[in-house]
Amino acid sequence: EVDQKVDALLSKMTLDEKIGQLNQYTSRWEMTGPAPKGQSEQELLDMIKSGKVGSMLNVTGAEATRNAQQLAVENSRLGIPMIFGYDVVHGYKTMFPIPLATAASWEPAAAELSASVAAKETAASGVHWTFAPMVDIARDARWGRIMEGAGEDPYLGSVMAAAQVRGFQGASLADENTIAACAKHFAAYGFAEAGRDYNTVEITENTLRNVVLPPFKACADAGVASFMNSFNEIGGVLATANNHLLRDILKGEWNFDGFVVSDWNSIGEIVDHGVAPNKKEAAYLAMKAGSDMDMEGNCYVSQLKELVEEGRIDEALIDDAVRRILKIKFELGLFDDPYRYSNPEKEKTLLNAEHLQAAREVAKKSIVLLKNENQLLPLKKSGQRIAVIGDMADDKDSPLGSWRAQAVTGSAVSLLEGMKNTAADPAIIQFEQGPVFVSNEADFTHHLEFNETDLSGIDEAVALAKQVDVVVMALGENCFQSGEGRSQTDITLKGVQQQLLEAVYAANPNVVVVLMNGRPLVINWMAEHVPAILETWHLGSEAGNAIADVLFGDYNPSGKLPVSFPRAVGQCPIYYNHKSTGRPFDTGLVFWSHYTDESNEPLYPFGYGLSYTTFAYSDLKLSSSEFGLDEEITVSVKVENTGNYAGEEVVQLYIRDLFGSITRPVKELKGFEKISLAPGESKVVEFELSANDLAFYTAEGKWQAEPGDFLLWVGTHSQEGLEAAFSLK
Ligand code: IFM
Repeated sequence: EVDQKVDALLSKMTLDEKIGQLNQYTSRWEMTGPAPKGQSEQELLDMIKSGKVGSMLNVTGAEATRNAQQLAVENSRLGIPMIFGYDVVHGYKTMFPIPLATAASWEPAAAELSASVAAKETAASGVHWTFAPMVDIARDARWGRIMEGAGEDPYLGSVMAAAQVRGFQGASLADENTIAACAKHFAAYGFAEAGRDYNTVEITENTLRNVVLPPFKACADAGVASFMNSFNEIGGVLATANNHLLRDILKGEWNFDGFVVSDWNSIGEIVDHGVAPNKKEAAYLAMKAGSDMDMEGNCYVSQLKELVEEGRIDEALIDDAVRRILKIKFELGLFDDPYRYSNPEKEKTLLNAEHLQAAREVAKKSIVLLKNENQLLPLKKSGQRIAVIGDMADDKDSPLGSWRAQAVTGSAVSLLEGMKNTAADPAIIQFEQGPVFVSNEADFTHHLEFNETDLSGIDEAVALAKQVDVVVMALGENCFQSGEGRSQTDITLKGVQQQLLEAVYAANPNVVVVLMNGRPLVINWMAEHVPAILETWHLGSEAGNAIADVLFGDYNPSGKLPVSFPRAVGQCPIYYNHKSTGRPFDTGLVFWSHYTDESNEPLYPFGYGLSYTTFAYSDLKLSSSEFGLDEEITVSVKVENTGNYAGEEVVQLYIRDLFGSITRPVKELKGFEKISLAPGESKVVEFELSANDLAFYTAEGKWQAEPGDFLLWVGTHSQEGLEAAFSLK
């Protein structure tokens, strides 16, 4: 039915009107890329009125979206509504944890909840479409956008990607509480050389298919409405002009029937990459390759008509792109009522108690306990004197995270507030800010500067530390230290934080570090000395309350790292599912694959995270030690809570394919389940494993499992587990 409506409308459209549908401009009051050149606001309004703008980004709010929509609907010949897109990455007004944090929950339901609340708030504000989820696999902590994805693993990444699509889009786009999602950045953006944003990518078809594409495929399978190109090239071919990616794989093999939007001027940047001499050739290459909508590039709207008239672009290609965009507009119900999402009444109730409660739930599940010597945690709610130290401890803004959509500046619950809210006796908590870490007010578009020298405040912090039983220190990164355009060559603590930490620790070694960060950090000194470390990322609106839930033991931490934490930046890219190399073992001489100045191992491995309780694994059983291509086996393991607290454990299953037509990773996650256990309780966890789970893109260029021998581990993280062997016949 939608197809017929699309065709009927398409048949009435002029070429100009069709090309207009492929054109997307930003509002002038919010920029998420370099400012547009040379076009006045009046020209923009005139283009909308004449049907030359099919979509806008960065227009938000019931009133603003209604006004903009009116320009298109009431003035253009066919009155086709615009689709409004926005980066709703981890919340719209109510901020949820950054996606890397949510991935640490290893709970797809948490990712789905976060996306569904975000969708509700976004939809009420007149926005129809989010540029999320970002499903780029990222193995390099130098890359600032690692905070936006689910980390380094294609399996976890796929599960989280599909969950977010379900959350944003719900059962139907027609529902007024759902929005269209966008799988980005297609593809391999996370593989930028040296972790420098927008940089060159050199990966093979094998890595592309086996590592990068699975989360995208999961989005396509979950019915995602759109894809976004990535800025990068892959082996000399730009993703935005990439026939193989867009036409062969996405629209061919995967039969994707939504549309592809470019990234911000990524069509125009084909010129800067030196692949097209001008905008016209850039438009030609991108359209031919299958990029349907031009975000801020001004290439399609200015060049495509001439290309069609010259016979270089077949109008059928334009029709196909327009059809895809109109289809989503119909599915969103925009032709029934172009203003249906702009709801001023609903918009007033966005940051409500229910949404905040959901944000707190997801936030506490995202926290990872990295160290807890002598059970320093949980803290007591009374009868213990606690010093809270550090610039970030009373920060009500940074926990909102980067890519914060319409979050109200300074609206997060700070760590200090959360601890005071939760302690039975708030008077047990005393605060010293210590030296300031950042010396300017940064925002999404401007860089931070760090205080590297001014130690004023350190003496007061040390003096307080001496008077208390335990010190809670907030350290890590300001939220605008990670995110787009925030690549770093140094991922240790910035500014005067390390000096503060060492001084306070010398005064009182009972230190709990609450880390706040958007990327893995190098924290070797801390890991060696400090007895307790809690990884809290940037947890959103309810950050402080959620952290306090964990610090005081109202919630037993259950998160696991979705990325490896390196010991040195020189190890990057570092990831658990690496290849063997021909020299994996210490040969006794220098001739093996290693560093002479650092171990190969991460400081904290993928999948790692402690609990206030302990778990014991036993009785690993396979229903059979061999199975055929169309059979499956059941893997079972017994997990027992051997400690004193009720707790949750993420039971992880890894395999190793011992021989392959191409080299295979030393370990690959193939399943996980989060279970809850009371003290003394045990459960048997079962996983089904089929040949399909063992499939990969082989030397023959086929997605299939290769018969042979495998190892299997079930355990608490990627470096620990009970082992078994099986073979595929
Ligand atoms: O969605 C983003 C993308 O991730 C980076 N460039 C700008 C886009 C729109 O804001």
